[in-house]
Amino acid sequence: MKVMVIGGGGREHTLAWKIVRSPRVKKVFVAPGNAGTALIAENINIRPTDIEALGKAAKDKGIDLVVVGPETPLASGIVDYFDKLSIPVFGSTKAATQIESSKVFARNLMQKYGIPCPKGIVFSSYSEAKQHLERQRPPIVIKADGLAAGKGTIIAGSLLEGDRALSDIMEAKVFGSAGDKVIIDEYVTGLEVSLLAFVDGKTISVMPPACDYKRVWDNDQGPNTGGMGSYSPPGFFPAKMVEKAKNEILLPTVRAMAEEGIIYKGVLYAGLMVTDCHCDPETSSGEAISLEFNARFGDPETQVILPLLKTDLVDILLAVIQGNLDQLKIEWSLGVCVGVVMASAGYPGSYKTGLPINGLDRFDKDLLVFHAGTKLADNAVVYTDGGRVLTVVARGKDLAEARQKVYGNISRISFEGCHYRKDIALREIEWH
Ligand code: GLY
Repeated sequence: MKVMVIGGGGREHTLAWKIVRSPRVKKVFVAPGNAGTALIAENINIRPTDIEALGKAAKDKGIDLVVVGPETPLASGIVDYFDKLSIPVFGSTKAATQIESSKVFARNLMQKYGIPCPKGIVFSSYSEAKQHLERQRPPIVIKADGLAAGKGTIIAGSLLEGDRALSDIMEAKVFGSAGDKVIIDEYVTGLEVSLLAFVDGKTISVMPPACDYKRVWDNDQGPNTGGMGSYSPPGFFPAKMVEKAKNEILLPTVRAMAEEGIIYKGVLYAGLMVTDCHCDPETSSGEAISLEFNARFGDPETQVILPLLKTDLVDILLAVIQGNLDQLKIEWSLGVCVGVVMASAGYPGSYKTGLPINGLDRFDKDLLVFHAGTKLADNAVVYTDGGRVLTVVARGKDLAEARQKVYGNISRISFEGCHYRKDIALREIEWH
């Protein structure tokens, strides 16, 4: 088979890394890819949003399977487009992607079908939203309806901050039409877990849960980022809680979508908030509610989930497309993974690119280094080309071992001004 992966981040490098391991696969293309994918596949210089050009490239190259990474092309209907071209494609249709591309759609669905979620009210007028805001006690959660590159949820610590967020979103339109509506939500506390599942329209198969770290600095300080690290699975979210969240959140959501006439195929990613959980997996029994859904693999969760997958990923992707996931036994390793993101100086603000990366040949052989913002130059040197540059991943029998491996290797890789968090998965070790 010839497979085309769409996207150019750490998630897509991980997908390509797993797909090239399939005995069914002869060649992998990645559009646009990065330096990491260039070393294991062939990069095609087409943006993920240029759907027609991607369709033409897939036809020209005789692609047998397309795998879509990012949300923007999914929300624009890339899967519907490839379906029309009769090219097998893994991902959710435009209608199904509304679960991510409209927070209001997702919230209405969850409320209608009794799926656990925060209490919130939807507003399409700034003045009504402001009046409601003034009756709340901070912190207040404000969510833009549409896609906002991960920046659409604001936790306001004061009414003034809340009003500024509302006015930026609804009046200044900082996220464009994504801010035509907002949800003002109650603030819920707990620990966040990402629970992803393969879905073929009716059957779902959950992946090991993962946690990601959104703030740039240790101890969850500083601004939000696209994700500074992740680990899987979290000890505080044991198998019985995964099963409960599957039965009370993921499966009812797929069924609710079907009731609404939308067949959900692809990855369903629930961003859960788990209340009252603690470190002992025997007694941890918190309640999970769904803060939001995504219609794709997570980044950087994919980097720590797929290395645990024992089954051929291509078999799973095809079973999802063909609607026979119930026929496939999906196996996961009992180990764990810790992934740490190395970022450019200044990220998540402005940063320089084009800096040489040193030490990419100096880490232990069992480490995995997934590239995101990197570029391979003619002289075979790898340069930085984005804010998040690499995710360094270690597998281990437990989180302490995986952390030791990842942090024992990461300082061997360097580029000018690079920074990374030192506390990924640390809380799990400190709890014991
Ligand atoms: N890790 C967050 C996301 O993929 O949206």
